[in-house]
Amino acid sequence: MSQKFDAVVIGAGAAGMMCAAVAGQRGRNVLLIDHAANLAEKIRISGGGRCNFTNLQAGPANYHSANPHFCRSALSRYSPQDFLALLARYNIPWHEKHKGQLFCDRSAQDIIDMLRAECALGNVSWRQPCTVQAVRHDNAGWLIETDAGPVESTSLVIASGGLSIPKIGATDFGHRIARQFDIPVIPPRPGLVPLTFDAASAPFAELAGIALEVELRCRDGFFREDLLITHRGLSGPAILQISSWWQPGDTLSIDLLPDLDLEAALLAAKQGARQHVVSVLAQWLPRRMAELFVAQAGLGARPIAEAGDKALRALAARIKRWELKPSGSEGYRKAEVTLGGVDTRALDQKTMMARQHPGLYFVGEVMDVTGWLGGYNFQWAWASAHACGQAL
Ligand code: FDA
Repeated sequence: MSQKFDAVVIGAGAAGMMCAAVAGQRGRNVLLIDHAANLAEKIRISGGGRCNFTNLQAGPANYHSANPHFCRSALSRYSPQDFLALLARYNIPWHEKHKGQLFCDRSAQDIIDMLRAECALGNVSWRQPCTVQAVRHDNAGWLIETDAGPVESTSLVIASGGLSIPKIGATDFGHRIARQFDIPVIPPRPGLVPLTFDAASAPFAELAGIALEVELRCRDGFFREDLLITHRGLSGPAILQISSWWQPGDTLSIDLLPDLDLEAALLAAKQGARQHVVSVLAQWLPRRMAELFVAQAGLGARPIAEAGDKALRALAARIKRWELKPSGSEGYRKAEVTLGGVDTRALDQKTMMARQHPGLYFVGEVMDVTGWLGGYNFQWAWASAHACGQAL
């Protein structure tokens, strides 16, 4: 005998728990299934353990999607302020860190506990850890075969997330279900991920450990954020942000001194100065970096007054437009998100339901809606799940 539910939600992460809680509190009989042994690991490790749970500026412009207006409706109906009101009911302390990014004061566990409590308020049933073996649909509704026995439901919500960090339970389950029901999937690729470089392409070992605020461009992407140079390549928020624009073969253009008209500053420093070019440049750039750029410019250890204008202009241009060609990315092992996913053109923007399959819904990162770094991805999880939970 299979158990019967109004809705089965597969994936008990950010979106799945929110969706189940909202539907449960509306009186729906909901079952939440997850195959992972530990609940909501992505929330737990997010934001360095403090979960950057939303961004005050979240709006459609902060998301990548082949269907950019799709997210507008859900985001406008469940805002960062709505999530803050929920935190207030649980007395969860938080702070703003940077550019509208909100973090827990204590730990990400506060968010997990709150979502669990919200599910309890909605009398949500759980199967975890539990593996889903097959999903079928007929006139009576959905039949979900699991290793704990079959369940039937009127609605099925896929909240199984993206492909990043497989070692904590990420799978392509949602994409497979979409394909099973002929729903297109935009090819997935890692996003918000460190980029790698061939050893010959840039002297990262010499510069490893340097961090500085830069302006970075690739395609239509443009960010002013911190850049971190590691032994393997480039990382830090600037690179994570731009990685979602980067495609193999693209070159990044980096302004290492965005607040300075470097050409004018170097030419002005020439006037009668006995300082070496490296020392002049080291006023603005980390010394190791200054030494490297000066050596590459062939200016050597001589006073700036003796350097030619042309050479100083070329040095300034190289620092203001440092061009680097990544060889790849660190992949899903290190990516914070997955770009691409279930094509939202096949979904209803108000409810997240598949247009051709009444009763089948997708919420959260499994869909082709991917936020920038900075709390936008959780805001999409909450907003899409809330929209769906109200429709079940
Ligand atoms: P999520 O991945 O949260 O949940 C999916 C659930 O489905 C998981 O519990 C998984 O076990 C389950 N599942 C998968 N396959 C299954 C199957 N076959 N059967 C059953 N269950 C299955 N975002 C942000 O806004 N602020 C931040 O601070 C961070 N920080 C961050 C750090 C790191 C290291 C990562 C990897 C990611 C972030 N993110 C983030 C991104 C954010 O974590 C992500 O966008 C959301 O968790 C997506 O929520 P979902 O519920 O869609 O998927």
